Amino acid sequence: MRVALAFAAAAILLAGCMYPKSAEPPASLSAAEVEKARAKDPAADAAAVGAGRELFVAKCGECHDHPDVMAIEDAKWPGILDEMGEKAEIDATQRGSVLRFILAVRAARAPAK
Ligand code: HEC
Repeated sequence: MRVALAFAAAAILLAGCMYPKSAEPPASLSAAEVEKARAKDPAADAAAVGAGRELFVAKCGECHDHPDVMAIEDAKWPGILDEMGEKAEIDATQRGSVLRFILAVRAARAPAK
C-alpha cells in the first residue's frame, strides 16, 4: 500500500513537471566572453555577471537540477525568473542579477550562425 502510494505520488510529480533539459551550471565567463555579452547588455560587467552566477549556482539547483540555460530562448527567461525567483525566495534585484548572468552566457556562448 505504502509502495503503491509512493509510485502514484512519483507519477503525479513527473507528469506535472515537464522539466526541460538540465546541465551543470555554466562555467564563469572569461574576460573575452564578458566583452561579448556587454555588446548586448552594457551593464553585464564581470562583477554583475559573477554575482548572478553565484546566485544561480546556489539557488537554482535546490529543487531540480540546474536548467540548461542554452536550451531555453532569451525571451522566456524573464518570465521564468519571475516565477522561479519567488520559489527560490530571492528579491527583484537578485532575480535581475540571475537573469543578467543567464543572458550573458547565452550571448557569449551562442553557437556561431
Ligand atoms: C523551491 C523550489 C524551486 C527553486 C528554488 C527553483 N525552482 Fe525552478 N522549478 C521548480 C518546480 C516545482 C518546477 C516545475 C513546475 C513549474 O514550472 O512551476 C520548476 C521548473 C523550472 C523550469 C522549467 C519551467 C519553465 O517554465 O520552463 C526552469 C527553467 C526553472 N525551474 C528554472 C529555475 C531557476 C533559474 C531557478 C533559480 C532562480 C529555480 N528554477 C529555482 C521549483 C524550484
